[in-house]
Amino acid sequence: MDIYLDNAATTFPKPLAVPDAIYDYIVNNGGTSGRGSYEKAILADGLVYQTRKSLAKLFNHNDPKTVVFTSSVTESLNLALQGILKPGDHVVTSALEHNAVWRCLKTLERDRGITISVVPATAQGETAIEDVEAAITPETRMIVFTHASNVLGTIQPIGEIGALARRQNLLFLVDAAQTAGVIPIDVQAQNIDLLAFTGHKSLLGPMGTGGLVVNCEAEIHPLISGGTGGDSAYEYQPDYYPNHLEAGIMNVSGIIGLGAALSFLEAEGLATIRHKEDALMDYALNALSTVPGIEIYGPRDSSKSVGVIPFNLEGHVPEEIAFYLDQECQVMIRAGLHCAPSAHRLIGTVTRGSCRIGIGYFNEPAHIDALVNGLKSYLKENN
Ligand SMILES: Cc1ncc(COP(=O)(O)O)c(C=O)c1O
Repeated sequence: MDIYLDNAATTFPKPLAVPDAIYDYIVNNGGTSGRGSYEKAILADGLVYQTRKSLAKLFNHNDPKTVVFTSSVTESLNLALQGILKPGDHVVTSALEHNAVWRCLKTLERDRGITISVVPATAQGETAIEDVEAAITPETRMIVFTHASNVLGTIQPIGEIGALARRQNLLFLVDAAQTAGVIPIDVQAQNIDLLAFTGHKSLLGPMGTGGLVVNCEAEIHPLISGGTGGDSAYEYQPDYYPNHLEAGIMNVSGIIGLGAALSFLEAEGLATIRHKEDALMDYALNALSTVPGIEIYGPRDSSKSVGVIPFNLEGHVPEEIAFYLDQECQVMIRAGLHCAPSAHRLIGTVTRGSCRIGIGYFNEPAHIDALVNGLKSYLKENN
């Protein structure tokens, strides 16, 4: 039996309703969205709009039109950062960011003359609101923060940061890659101006889907220009949403798949999902602690973390452990730097990297047992 424990990278399996909806659309419809006036195109358009509505509901956003679809959270973050920041702007961010934020900010620092302050984090991945406040300068335009670290799992105090951003009149951009679909997010109550999310992780949808919830009036310059299906004689990108930020044909099949995933999530309930993942995390933390020489990083507390557990085995190379688990035990985990080197700096693993398990809604305690047995047999064979 294949055991998948890399759900922080992408969730697997998906609810069967997801491939079913994609199959049904491709085989029985196939129409464009926003471009045709025949019945099938209107039906496809309706399904895309329904997905916008479901996302708006999930994030308590009051206007589905300003839920903009992108191909990934990486694109969403680039859209918000590149589309808003101007020369001289200052940005406050955290030491936990994924390269989707960090490389984009560094590129804007080099090419556009923005400046960046990084809020420190502890080795458990915790940041302090006082440090966020202290980093703000008169030039600060935006705070951009991950909602949960993809290396350490630690959930960040985005409600407090959002309140601070609102008080100081700053834009607040949240990277919800690791949390959307498992931790409740309320863009209004948490003062989130821009929420970047991906469809293929805990939202349980397909790759190639993601989006940006625009909960503010800030002007966002489109990353690309092109057809939107309407006002075609106008020579520039229209300024109304979502067309302003959605040029070119959409990933209709993916968005319909995401819509099916959102219906599944709604039926299960976020609380049920979180409860199951928390229980599995507690089970995994206990079981992993019986492995000789293991060092587990992060908060080691399911109430402070999403289902991500990074670890190393003393004296062993993470990639070799992951390779053994895959080849000998059919257990899939991640090894390396997980695209977030500064988070690895916090735990002293920036050269070595770490193993990481990502727990998903479809995992069971038996999967954790297989992992732990695999680690013990790896040690027996390699010590
Ligand atoms: C916190 C965080 N941000 C951004 C990303 C980038 O996601 P994608 O490559 O799907 O755009 C990831 C993916 O692992 C992530 O965990």
